Amino acid sequence: MRTLTYYVATTLDGFIAGSDGADPTGTIFTVGPDYVEHVVTHYPETLPGPAREAMGVTSLGNRFDTVLEGRRSYQLGLDAGMTNAYPHLRHIVFSRRLGQSPDPTVELVADDPAETVRRLKATEGRGIWLVGGAELAGALYEEIDELILKVNPVAIGTGIPLFAGKAGTAGGAPRRFALTENRILPSGVAILTYARQTS
Ligand SMILES: NC(=O)c1ccc[n+]([C@@H]2O[C@H](COP(=O)([O-])OP(=O)(O)OC[C@H]3O[C@@H](n4cnc5c(N)ncnc54)[C@H](OP(=O)(O)O)[C@@H]3O)[C@@H](O)[C@H]2O)c1
Repeated sequence: MRTLTYYVATTLDGFIAGSDGADPTGTIFTVGPDYVEHVVTHYPETLPGPAREAMGVTSLGNRFDTVLEGRRSYQLGLDAGMTNAYPHLRHIVFSRRLGQSPDPTVELVADDPAETVRRLKATEGRGIWLVGGAELAGALYEEIDELILKVNPVAIGTGIPLFAGKAGTAGGAPRRFALTENRILPSGVAILTYARQTS
């Protein structure tokens, strides 16, 4: 069965962005050559289209064929003039208020994200990448099978956490994960892969 992976950059103190909701790439999360090499080698499909083009990356990797994005994360691309940052993947954006997709290659979904993911999991295909942000991750909390945390050696004290909304406030039972892979880059970024334990 297809799995849902939250593959996301985080600070040491568990934030995926600053409180202003701006794109943290290149500011909070510095992008060094070792990090770029890691992504190109292991997760080339997670690079935005313009970056793939600039670097001459054509590989679609072997992990994901679908990407899920919350509207506020998607909006950052729109504001930068990109209506589809991932044209090489099936790109689904969740929004209750956008109404119409700004790009015919981006699917807009207003329905329950968890229900949508359960439907996707029941179909054939590669893995499903949850890019974020926190609110969408909160809505999909119970559907996440794998976490790939790109832990950057930086703390910001406050900001947008890994999970917000329902999951952020639920105070429910702990969900256990098993470490399945770890890689420490020379720049100090730790790439930690965890699989959800089901028993
Ligand atoms: N560190 C990383 O790797 C990483 C990755 C991705 C994003 N980010 C950062 O995360 C921040 C954005 O995160 P965020 O938590 O503010 O927002 P978000 O999760 O990206 O988007 C929230 C929006 O998604 C839609 N949505 C959420 N739950 C929904 C549901 N149950 N049904 C339908 N639509 C739903 C709503 O859109 P409408 O308001 O249109 O209805 C909601 O306003 C940005 O700063 C971005 O840079 C960081």
